Amino acid sequence: MRNVKISALGCYVPPRVLTNDDLAKMVDTSNEWILERTGILERHIADPDMATSDMAVMAAKAALEQRGIGGEEIDAIIVCTVTPDHMFPSTACLVQHQIGAKKAWGFDLIAACSGFVYGLTTGAHLVGAGTHKKVLVIGADTMSRIIDYQDRTTCVLFGDGAGAMLIEPAEEGEPGFVGFKNEIDGSGGPALKMRAGGSRLPASAETVAQRLHYVDQDGQAVFKFAVRRMGDISADLLAECGIQSSDVKLMIPHQANIRIINSAAHRLGMKPEQVMINIERYGNTTAATIPLATRDAIAEGKMAKGDLVLFTAVGAGFTSAANLWRWAY
Ligand code: ACO
Repeated sequence: MRNVKISALGCYVPPRVLTNDDLAKMVDTSNEWILERTGILERHIADPDMATSDMAVMAAKAALEQRGIGGEEIDAIIVCTVTPDHMFPSTACLVQHQIGAKKAWGFDLIAACSGFVYGLTTGAHLVGAGTHKKVLVIGADTMSRIIDYQDRTTCVLFGDGAGAMLIEPAEEGEPGFVGFKNEIDGSGGPALKMRAGGSRLPASAETVAQRLHYVDQDGQAVFKFAVRRMGDISADLLAECGIQSSDVKLMIPHQANIRIINSAAHRLGMKPEQVMINIERYGNTTAATIPLATRDAIAEGKMAKGDLVLFTAVGAGFTSAANLWRWAY
């Protein structure tokens, strides 16, 4: 496999902010409970006329602008999402058209909160194979469309957003992709799912009346799996690559719950300054948390060219994923 790098990053969050105090007016909760149990202060919510592809396009255009190229140079588009505009056509098709990526093919990748890291792994291999020169990996989710704002156990957790990274060939010796580890444990499927709307239980008046088109989760089961697996898969990847956790400049974990992140960091022996946390500003934006956290880490001067960065995530499925990259710009 040839050396590959991440050459650009773009993000988008909708301007409207939903605070914990706003939520406390909608369900029986409080700012104190949400902050203490999750680390979240506020999240961004898309206006009704904005869908996932709109946010994905904004993020993609920002990445293209940073790189100084047009959409026509893109070879493939991978949109990681659990909230596509439609079941079909794929969100990747909508993005391809909007950014003028005339020669690109692409597809949607469903791996929930691990989606973006699965997408990076896939993009790295498309470019690493030598068959693609520019692959755009986008994580975009409009979680507010599939959240029941009458359910206090889920509505406090999620927000909307999008982020895109461009993957390109790198010269030998240039910073780039180091390694990956991706897994599925399908026994965890029942713990986090949307009950209706697929081929198992198509949408009907009954499924709507029973509120089956929303995120349905056993929060404690997800929490326990995530705490264990985020640390373990990261430790396994570091061991496979022969890298000590002290060599990692920054762990950029999926932002689901500050307690999950801190447990994983503790398991890995990471110091607080090695761990990126921005969950307080965005909540869990599913496939978008990692690019959003990367953007903020760069803006805050926490990582720079040549630094070793660990992306790690756990999500519905259960899916889990870890990637090591040396940051290239
Ligand atoms: N406000 C106030 N009280 C609440 C709220 C709320 N928003 N939500 C739940 N409670 C109550 C519960 O009803 C329960 O009350 P009870 O004791 O009277 O029954 C009490 O708080 C404790 O509930 P727990 O479920 O034990 O709370 P816990 O500390 O586990 O936190 C949470 C719940 C935040 C959902 C946690 O389990 C969690 O984060 N799980 C992971 C879920 C997740 O991140 N999913 C995202 C997708 S997957 C991923 O990204 C990894």
